[in-house]
Amino acid sequence: MAFTARDVLQALRSVVDPEREKDIVRLNMVRNLTVEDDTVSFTVVLKSPTAPFADKVQAQATAALHEALGDDLTVNVALDNEMIGLGDDLQVSGSGQQQSTDDPTPGVLNTIAVASGKGGVGKSTVAVNLALSLAEEGYDVGLIDTDIYGPSVPTMLGLEGEKPRVSEERKIIPLQKYGLKVLSMGFMIDPQKAVIWRGPMVTKAIRQFLGDTDWGTLDYLVMDLPPGTGDIQLTIVQTVSLTGAVIVSTPQEVALADARKGVSMFDNVNVPVLGIVENMAFFTPPDLPDRKYYLFGQGGARRLAQDLDVPFLGEIPIEQAVRESGDDGEPIVTAGPDSASAKAFRKATRHMVDEVALRNAEQAPSQQVEILYR
Ligand SMILES: Nc1ncnc2c1ncn2[C@@H]1O[C@H](COP(=O)(O)OP(=O)(O)O)[C@@H](O)[C@H]1O
Ligand SMILES: [Mg+2]
Repeated sequence: MAFTARDVLQALRSVVDPEREKDIVRLNMVRNLTVEDDTVSFTVVLKSPTAPFADKVQAQATAALHEALGDDLTVNVALDNEMIGLGDDLQVSGSGQQQSTDDPTPGVLNTIAVASGKGGVGKSTVAVNLALSLAEEGYDVGLIDTDIYGPSVPTMLGLEGEKPRVSEERKIIPLQKYGLKVLSMGFMIDPQKAVIWRGPMVTKAIRQFLGDTDWGTLDYLVMDLPPGTGDIQLTIVQTVSLTGAVIVSTPQEVALADARKGVSMFDNVNVPVLGIVENMAFFTPPDLPDRKYYLFGQGGARRLAQDLDVPFLGEIPIEQAVRESGDDGEPIVTAGPDSASAKAFRKATRHMVDEVALRNAEQAPSQQVEILYR
């Protein structure tokens, strides 16, 4: 029987860590996954070697895989426990997440950057609806808008003019909306002043903003980046340990050319590109529901994804309701859950979740890190 790493992860989602009450795939506990003919091998990374679950997880995982993929399967499950932190004078860099000693968001399992080469392609719209779709799937989700020049998340979520509170421990408490924890640079700074900021000021502000915030524990932190692929974007990307990036493009040639630059920026800093989303892919007139008009060209982002060997996460149609709901402060995924675009956002989100699981599972448990002295 032929099966893929994706099938294996799907089956392993039924194995739940009783202490943390979540499945082992969602908790990024499955690593080093390889699939070869009828043999599946992986490592389960436990919080501590003495967790009671340690005695059971191998048998449970094996049973889940036999049940889903057949009894002929050979399953090798190794156990490991989380790497102990490195000394304080060491700084760890690399694309991996948990191990970094100066990770400003230690309670966050996956940080996803939403980026675009060009402004106005719908990056913030995608970031917001992606975050909401993740929350709908039951994940704990935060959204952070780092677009200092044009923070639009406050408007899109109806949070304009609001200010987050500060706790007694002097931590910023994110606002809550539609089940998301939300922060925007727009809450903290005057965009008119920020336009003259240089790269290091931006990094410092964002780093502080991230580290001084009480995110609690999150499955996903979705980060809306400023548009473009210049120094500012690069420094933000290097401020956090990203799980991966989602690139948003429209089908137009100019946007695609910039999306290509976006992919290469993330490649250069070893951040996996989880995929490309094509926004404003086509238009279906409400009175002609069977028609699709490809106003900006057809299939460009899909071809680009193929060309660059990155996943194509999906296409989002142009709908008037997307724009209206963004302006009205309730995004389409919640305001119009049955619309074509809401369905498309949900589908792209599920695809991204699979890509995240795959990326996390392919990582070695004690991954190679580059150690730099400060
Ligand atoms: N699929 C879509 N259909 C219709 N309007 C859209 C769509 N995606 C984005 N928009 C609208 O386009 C404008 C720009 O989107 P935005 O998300 O702010 O882009 P960016 O963050 O890339 O600058 C907004 O008014 C938004 O409502
Ligand atoms: Mg934006």
